[in-house]
Amino acid sequence: MKKEHTLEICHVTKHYGKKRALSDFSYTFKPGIYGLLGPNGAGKSTLMNLITDNLIPDKNNGVIKWDNEDIQKLGKKYRSHLGFMPQQQNLYPTMTARQFMGYISSLKNIDRKSAVTEIESLLETVELKEVADKKTGGFSGGMKQRLLFASCLLGNPSLIILDEPTAGLDPRQRVILREKIENYGKDKIIIIATHITSDIETIADCIIMMKDGRIIDNGSVEELVKKVHCGSETLENLYMQYYDEEEKKNVLG
Ligand SMILES: Nc1ncnc2c1ncn2[C@@H]1O[C@H](COP(=O)(O)OP(=O)(O)OP(=O)(O)O)[C@@H](O)[C@H]1O
Ligand SMILES: [Mg+2]
Repeated sequence: MKKEHTLEICHVTKHYGKKRALSDFSYTFKPGIYGLLGPNGAGKSTLMNLITDNLIPDKNNGVIKWDNEDIQKLGKKYRSHLGFMPQQQNLYPTMTARQFMGYISSLKNIDRKSAVTEIESLLETVELKEVADKKTGGFSGGMKQRLLFASCLLGNPSLIILDEPTAGLDPRQRVILREKIENYGKDKIIIIATHITSDIETIADCIIMMKDGRIIDNGSVEELVKKVHCGSETLENLYMQYYDEEEKKNVLG
């Protein structure tokens, strides 16, 4: 039987100078789709940068484990399982879309032959085949976003981290991306941070609500709806309930 992967965040704290962005954060991810929600500054991107090893936890303040092993110790072996779409768009403007995909596949050590097939199929999925040989410097925000999504899936990663993947996408492309994520395979761990609740409402197995670097609640949409007894059972309403309550608490002290 194929082994089920686990990603375990154990008591991770992260400061930027004096600012605490993540606070004694613990959670265990198993295969499935997770939606990460929370207001600006909640710590979603910080968590994702820690998971993808682009940041390290504060000294002596937590560890992140992939299949029970510290990701710091696994290094390259861990990163080969990883697909990351960061919040900030980082493309090389003089590269064409196809060259960029080739470049990322070489960084991921994918052999040339399978890379070529994969690149063609992924560019097709995100509807960028026609502009595959155009320089990315001339791409719109949404086109760049789609290229980053395609590049993140190169090498068929088991752990996929998407930081606001649909920012700047038109509704049609948003639906395509959502369907692609949903069909991507239930044996993967997929974590999506977003402010657009409809991106995750129907596809996430679990919603993680964050605030001030902590989890304030988590569970399936149904479970969370039951808890707060909100009238209309949409994730957007649920979000308003959670964060309005939080705001009120803050105002009242
Ligand atoms: N490089 C940095 N230097 C200093 N402070 C930072 C840095 N990156 C993030 N922060 C701070 O850490 C906190 C968490 O930021 P983070 O980017 O993780 O939030 P987020 O939930 O991703 O927000 P958004 O929804 O706006 O993307 C914020 O208060 C932010 O100002
Ligand atoms: Mg962010």
